[in-house]
Amino acid sequence: MKYTANIDRYKKMKYNRCGNSGLLLPAISLGLWHNFGGIDVYENGRNMVRRAFDLGITHFDLANNYGPPYGSAEETFGRILRSDLQSYRDELIITSKAGYDMWPGPYGEWGSRKYLIASCNQSLKRMGLDYVDIFYSHRPDPNTPIEETMMALDQIVRSGKALYAGISSYEPEQSQKAIDILKELGTPCLVHQPSYSMFNRWVEDGLLDVLGKNGVGSVVFSPLFQGLLTNKYLNGIPEGSRASKADSYLQSSDITPEKIAKVKRLNEIAESRGQKMAQLALSWVLRDKRVTSVIIGASKVSQIEDAVGILDNMEFTPEELKMIEEILQV
Ligand SMILES: NC(=O)c1ccc[n+]([C@@H]2O[C@H](COP(=O)([O-])OP(=O)(O)OC[C@H]3O[C@@H](n4cnc5c(N)ncnc54)[C@H](OP(=O)(O)O)[C@@H]3O)[C@@H](O)[C@H]2O)c1
Repeated sequence: MKYTANIDRYKKMKYNRCGNSGLLLPAISLGLWHNFGGIDVYENGRNMVRRAFDLGITHFDLANNYGPPYGSAEETFGRILRSDLQSYRDELIITSKAGYDMWPGPYGEWGSRKYLIASCNQSLKRMGLDYVDIFYSHRPDPNTPIEETMMALDQIVRSGKALYAGISSYEPEQSQKAIDILKELGTPCLVHQPSYSMFNRWVEDGLLDVLGKNGVGSVVFSPLFQGLLTNKYLNGIPEGSRASKADSYLQSSDITPEKIAKVKRLNEIAESRGQKMAQLALSWVLRDKRVTSVIIGASKVSQIEDAVGILDNMEFTPEELKMIEEILQV
């Protein structure tokens, strides 16, 4: 049956300005790193994207090598676009990235002009798009001059293949350099995509200051620490969860008794706020106004609904913040 988007899709979602730019991004974005590959069930991915859009999630985050196999998440997303979202293209922010291992040989990863431009062309083809909204350098390359990588981003934007440029996982000093070079080239850095969660707070050590000072937005990934900051692992590792999968980046050894003890205590605070643990973790990341959006991952529609459920309850009392800090600092 033909998909028609929910007429009320813009009623509830909060849209935040991305740095000093003209672009608004939803407080909650959906990433397609996991569960949208060629090995996954297409209809499940399709339902998640449709439900997300119906809930006002306009921002979908991809990269060249999401799958598995590499490239297949972009193919899946392209298929969903063609079948359901074609007529909504101008309501969507679609991103891709290049930086990690993608194809064999010396031009298939890192930050050369050769790799970034070829990869962007491939991504557009896989998704059936004329342009992506944001194209990222996925990681800094210690062996390529940062000027070359930034000039490639500038060229991608100038040639109309992306509307905005972004960087991901750059340290504060590298970020400042990238921001300065892009500014000089005339293609401002729109956004930085770092990891950030209650269990991974490196951005608080300078990066958010750099971004705030320069008017660059931040969309943060793995806000649930890949699922650990939910109530999913409180009683062991459930079958089918990310940590149960052999080739996952979340290993069962990451589910330590110390972390689970913290999640149990945090979960009590969540309950006292009438939230689920996942909702507490997402609201907490968004408490810092320099964070434009959290990019969640999901394996089922209900997880996207949980995330959007935070929108009525994103404020914290000073006492709650203090209690959370005490738990995280132990
Ligand atoms: N720039 C980069 O280098 C980079 C790196 C990593 C990710 N990313 C982006 O960030 C996105 C999100 O990353 P992530 O998937 O690690 O984010 P995450 O939100 O920290 O973890 C998502 C996982 O948590 C579990 N989950 C989500 N909501 C839940 C809920 N309400 N209750 C219980 N479990 C829940 C699900 O795992 P189960 O499968 O166990 O259900 C889900 O797949 C990626 O898709 C990608 O777009 C970017």
